[in-house]
Amino acid sequence: MDSTRSSPGWWRRLPADPLRRRMLLAAAAAGSGALATAPLLRAQTGAGDVVYVPTPQVVVNRMMTMARVGPADFVIDLGSGDGRQLITAVAKFGAKGGRGYDLDDELLRQASENAKKQGVADRVAFMKRDMFETDVSAASVITLYLLPTLNLKLRPKLLTELRPGSRIVSHDYNMGDWQAEESVTMQVPEKQVGNPGVSYVYLWIVPANVSGNWQWKLPGGQPVEVSVRQRLQDLEVRGTAGGKPVNVTLATLRGEDVRISALVDLNGRTLRHDFTGKVRGDAIEGTLRLFDKAETSTPWTAARTGGRAASIDPSAGTR
Ligand SMILES: C[S@@+](CC[C@H](N)C(=O)[O-])C[C@H]1O[C@@H](n2cnc3c(N)ncnc32)[C@H](O)[C@@H]1O
Repeated sequence: MDSTRSSPGWWRRLPADPLRRRMLLAAAAAGSGALATAPLLRAQTGAGDVVYVPTPQVVVNRMMTMARVGPADFVIDLGSGDGRQLITAVAKFGAKGGRGYDLDDELLRQASENAKKQGVADRVAFMKRDMFETDVSAASVITLYLLPTLNLKLRPKLLTELRPGSRIVSHDYNMGDWQAEESVTMQVPEKQVGNPGVSYVYLWIVPANVSGNWQWKLPGGQPVEVSVRQRLQDLEVRGTAGGKPVNVTLATLRGEDVRISALVDLNGRTLRHDFTGKVRGDAIEGTLRLFDKAETSTPWTAARTGGRAASIDPSAGTR
């Protein structure tokens, strides 16, 4: 047996958290290069709230595809390890830039070195920052490979600081009761840690806050008044048109894109109305498709009347 792995000092350095212990031990048991020797262990254990385990490259690629990373994106990796998430985002997927935050000096050094080797050092920076104390509002994409508890702890921060429409991709761990927009299970034979051989990838899109009361007019001038209750991206919409209740058959929100389908009584006839638009603060601008004898499209503009809920995340303030 490798003497460094049986030394008492090594065991003492194991974290108290059972999941962190398991991740570290699984990697060590597999003898996988990164954790096999004492100097490497010290250099690559990571620092802070979770041990260092790299995301297999095939999973990183899938995370980028799922987040649809492209030239408009600024990517932040929270707990950036050797930098592979951010470097892949910029070097392979053309992101305009990004930041990686970690607490481990050696990993930060390696990540900067890797960025130089991949020719992206001018567009990325790896910095010693605690992810819980660092503003992430510049990001359009956040990448995570942490632990379930840390994802949950980050959740209110991400929902508050990120712009609507920003994407969050996470390797292996979900966000509690915040339903992912997309998720995938991958067979990854080379993966030794966590769930060996399997990786889970999740995507969330930060929803706009559309809670509160809204008003607009139908093409015939009838006033529409709706009230929206919102929990994360889930909406409950009730309202009236021309003073009569409307039957809302569908209400969805993906980032800043809202869609409301409703059956509206107009002059004794019930007609389907599809409202789709982009939320911009206290206004929505988009299109109304009205299904009468023929389908017609007209511009749709809605305005919020009054305030909105302070938070759309029921867990905010409770963690
Ligand atoms: C599981 S590794 C993920 C590495 C990389 N993101 C990847 O996907 O390959 C988690 C990283 O988070 C870092 N870390 C732990 N707690 C942190 C904190 N509070 N702030 C910043 N980084 C932290 C560790 O040093 C480690 O490098």
